[in-house]
Amino acid sequence: MVAAARPQTNDPAVLTPSDLELPRAWPDYVFRRIGAFFRFLRTLLFGGRDVVLPPGLRRGEELPAYLLREFHRMPNGYYSHVLANGYERGFERAMLGHVASVRIWMAEQTKDSRAVLDIGCGSGKLAGAMASVGVPDVWAIDASLYQLKIAAREYPALNLVHGLAESTPFDDGRFDAVGACFLFHELPTEAQNAVLAEVRRVLRPGGILVIAEPSPEQVRDGLRTLWRQHGWRGIYFRVLAKFVTEPYLEQWHGRSITEWATGHGFVVEKDESKVPFRRIVLRRS
Ligand SMILES: C[S@@+](CC[C@H](N)C(=O)[O-])C[C@H]1O[C@@H](n2cnc3c(N)ncnc32)[C@H](O)[C@@H]1O
Repeated sequence: MVAAARPQTNDPAVLTPSDLELPRAWPDYVFRRIGAFFRFLRTLLFGGRDVVLPPGLRRGEELPAYLLREFHRMPNGYYSHVLANGYERGFERAMLGHVASVRIWMAEQTKDSRAVLDIGCGSGKLAGAMASVGVPDVWAIDASLYQLKIAAREYPALNLVHGLAESTPFDDGRFDAVGACFLFHELPTEAQNAVLAEVRRVLRPGGILVIAEPSPEQVRDGLRTLWRQHGWRGIYFRVLAKFVTEPYLEQWHGRSITEWATGHGFVVEKDESKVPFRRIVLRRS
């Protein structure tokens, strides 16, 4: 059942087109500057280093160090026009189209909600799916303005906010549901905890957090088991998991979801894993 409408006077301002006029970062010069070209190549071949934010990027100084890594061998991580656009298409392809279906599953868990928040929304696809299932009040937040620029282009009706999932600008109990698609495995343990505490704050009592993350089996099981249980897809996702740079993956896979959830005032309603996804639903007590 859809919760009763509440007036929301304290909501943050949503991003405007002028907020999304962003400076070029060094990968945006990859075909114009020889230094950028070799640096780009080095990240692709040898893995991630630290991100260099371009001068003049709004609130760049507020980004925590753990975020400023070249995740997935992406030159300058989530911080350039060229890589944000490339990631938008590349992630879907690298996941063989499966991630679209997990977002639909996530959105369906929230379809009876009145107000939802997508944290670490990237290009806005989960938030877009939540709006498509009929949720009337959809918000999305991400740390990267480059990703949010794509979300604004693809889903102009969404309420987009720039900021960190661990310190959002929303009132207590503002949302009936929160979604996090492939966010937590990109956070170190302390940030995972801070984000879960923040989600508890912005959820109403009884509200849900829906999570999709990579399945732990693809890095834990041996090749033979993966082949037997999942065929070539099991091998593919294993190779992918080993190839891309995921600095905090072990910190995520290593934790007990039940202890983590109960320690933060949630009850685990679902925790299922099958290559390539782990699907989790936590209910705020
Ligand atoms: C793997 S992408 C997933 C994007 C999106 N959820 C999807 O389904 O495609 C992770 C996203 O989380 C964002 N992110 C990482 N840490 C964050 C944090 N602490 N607060 C807000 N966004 C964060 C990144 O900027 C990136 O856009």
